[in-house]
Amino acid sequence: MGSDASEVYVGSIDQGTTSTRFLIFDKQGEIVASHQEEFQQIYPKPGRHEHDANEIFQSVQNCIEGAVKKFESDGHRKGAIKAIGITNQRETIVCWNIKTGETIHNAIVWTDTRTASIARELRARPGSDKIKDLCGLPFSSYPTVTKLLWLLKNDETIRKTYEAEELAVGTVDSWLTYKLNGGARNPVFVTDASNASRTMLMDLHTVSYSDELFKFFSYEFDLHKIHFPKIAKSSCAESYGSIADGALRGCPIAGCLGDQSAALVGQKGYEPGSAKNTYGTGCFLLYNVGGTPVISRHGLLATVAYDFGTPTYALEGSIAVAGSGVKFLMKNFGFGDSSEAITELAGSVEDSGGLVFVTAFSGLFAPYWIDDAQGTMFGITHHTSRGHIARATLEAVCFQTKAILHAMEQDSSRRLHGLTVDGGMAQSDLCMQIQADISQRPIARPKMLETTALGAAIAAGLALGVWTGLEELKGASEEGGTVFEPAIGRAESERSFARWERAVRMCRGWLE
Ligand code: G3P
Repeated sequence: MGSDASEVYVGSIDQGTTSTRFLIFDKQGEIVASHQEEFQQIYPKPGRHEHDANEIFQSVQNCIEGAVKKFESDGHRKGAIKAIGITNQRETIVCWNIKTGETIHNAIVWTDTRTASIARELRARPGSDKIKDLCGLPFSSYPTVTKLLWLLKNDETIRKTYEAEELAVGTVDSWLTYKLNGGARNPVFVTDASNASRTMLMDLHTVSYSDELFKFFSYEFDLHKIHFPKIAKSSCAESYGSIADGALRGCPIAGCLGDQSAALVGQKGYEPGSAKNTYGTGCFLLYNVGGTPVISRHGLLATVAYDFGTPTYALEGSIAVAGSGVKFLMKNFGFGDSSEAITELAGSVEDSGGLVFVTAFSGLFAPYWIDDAQGTMFGITHHTSRGHIARATLEAVCFQTKAILHAMEQDSSRRLHGLTVDGGMAQSDLCMQIQADISQRPIARPKMLETTALGAAIAAGLALGVWTGLEELKGASEEGGTVFEPAIGRAESERSFARWERAVRMCRGWLE
């Protein structure tokens, strides 16, 4: 393909829990070039999950270089890439020294459960009943702040840096923005509202850090002594700086969204009432509730969906284990060497043979929030095969999605008639059919599943006028999809769900 001076492209860094990608989109929202890299998952002890933030940054640089090389070898000019957006795994905490830019401690990943007892302690503190109304999140090991409190209590270098008032704390988006801008030599320290709303330190209603939340969490360490990133709009030409080095040197960073928010944007979920479910490492259902936050009374989170000028909010159902369950079967049990092989195995049996696998590797998230649950299989017999285990692993995500849909309907008083899906596991026809059967709703899968990366590109492109309005983006993810209709009756579906719910009740209290 030849280069044309009028060509315009937008790049997107998609920094997920298990891999990093850089994708380049054209004005129609089609992918023109991409590069992907996996990085190390560190599990130092049961329940602990860490990343090396420097390795993550290196993987981002490699992906940019790799994709730009392909882009150029197809005859495009890299100068035609007008902006880049960042989308990222949320909640994961990165700590560094604000003066030197050097990291302190590995990043603690959102799935890590070492802070379960801190969450319990917080729940028992005076004033805890008001916290969810302010920030939208329940006490659990999931948000950034519990990870921060653990580090302050348990890591000496973190504590010394805190005492010297040199501790910088951010989520992965702010770490990447900081590093891409040149780190300590040109410090740009910023996050967007969707990421900040996962820390538990931001007031959802004002979209700014809350004095009340800071006070509540400062019972042992004064959080005011810590440097936190400035909260910016998700689509913004001024706040995020530009790339300091490498193939895209000088390219502005103009969009930033937590990955689940980006998927909602990439799915064009701009209207209140739109919803999407992304099956990635975990699985996350976001339901657009419009310009006013809805605080859940049924186990969901309230979050900023995106802030493109004024904030738009979502109700969220978060499932900790989805694709990571499939990876677990491959890596820990040797069940196959690809996710396709696991789907094939799951398809080799007619049903799970009565097996229920509660994949509570990080406790159970929404809508249950059981932090002392661990992964448990119920109903094993001599008949149980690898196929049944593989199938029960897929079913676990689908059952949790059904429970979340139920909670969402109770919170919003509206029935969700269908569900739009994306993410790696959504590529499995079998898994999506199981989802349709279990949820008793049609499941719509678009042809283009890279909606997360597209969402961040949209945020960046809107800020720089690549697109003037969202209607220009119709196309890529809207044509040629597949709809999965329920193939079993309601009674059968309800029976299997009742068995799942019984299993959930029985896996409580496993951890002391
Ligand atoms: O909240 C965690 C979430 O952002 C991780 O997303 O795509 O890595 O499962 P993913």
